[in-house]
Amino acid sequence: MLSGRLNSKLVLVTGASRGIGRAIAYGCADAGATVLCVARSARDLAQTVADITSAGGRAAAYACDVTDVVRVSAVFSQVRAEYGGVDIAMLNAGVGDEPTELEASDPQRWTEVVATNLFGAYYCARAAIPLLKMRGGGRIVMVGSGLGHHGHVKHSAYSVSKAGLWMLVRVLADEVAQHHISVNELIPGPVLTHMTRPATDPSSVFSIESEWVKQPEDVVPLALFLATQPEPGPTGQSFSLMRRTR
Ligand SMILES: NC(=O)c1ccc[n+]([C@@H]2O[C@H](COP(=O)([O-])OP(=O)(O)OC[C@H]3O[C@@H](n4cnc5c(N)ncnc54)[C@H](OP(=O)(O)O)[C@@H]3O)[C@@H](O)[C@H]2O)c1
Repeated sequence: MLSGRLNSKLVLVTGASRGIGRAIAYGCADAGATVLCVARSARDLAQTVADITSAGGRAAAYACDVTDVVRVSAVFSQVRAEYGGVDIAMLNAGVGDEPTELEASDPQRWTEVVATNLFGAYYCARAAIPLLKMRGGGRIVMVGSGLGHHGHVKHSAYSVSKAGLWMLVRVLADEVAQHHISVNELIPGPVLTHMTRPATDPSSVFSIESEWVKQPEDVVPLALFLATQPEPGPTGQSFSLMRRTR
């Protein structure tokens, strides 16, 4: 444990209670960071933190629904008070949608998907910027999706939410570059997690023979690459682990 690439860094990871976010949290802790783990499930977050600390790492849990802007502000204020800022914000929290044509979609569920994947990332990025500035700059990594670039029938909510996220990356990257903050998108491609298991849509990327179907741990090297890019480094860019563009 503690290979040192992120020694003395404070990394906040949303969606750290399971799946890709938990793997990224472990990976950052293993690289020496103090990891601030955010998600709704206090019990699952406690498990993430316990696993990191029992392996010799440093982590803390913050139960928070990222769709609740008041709660997001409160959590980031607490982090500011306890740690004096953050160096890297990994905005990974997200939900999938059930394959449904738009005409038959449930407006409440459609709104929840966009609220989590896009508004949640917006609330967290907005709250993270002052904390990154306190540390003289840093990195924002947003976990996007290939569906945000090319869309997919029966997945309008998810595709729209991730398309919005990709635009958020590009606009925000230009806004905060002067503050030594980079903003990039990480596209994991298909990963076996709670969100995708089982992949029910036969036309999904999980059914493409040549696609690389990953475990959450397979996403960690790219997350660490983006977290450790020296100044000035890339910004406003999309980095993908997919093997196909569609
Ligand atoms: N798996 C894939 O194939 C794939 C492909 C492309 C992109 N992605 C993206 O990767 C990210 C992680 O997905 P995953 O596959 O790891 O899914 P997952 O295993 O279901 O994990 C999702 C994480 O997000 C958290 N979360 C969900 N809603 C939240 C909310 N309202 N507030 C706070 N936290 C919330 C969950 O924790 P709680 O339930 O405890 O809140 C959980 O920690 C998502 O943004 C997803 O869109 C995944």
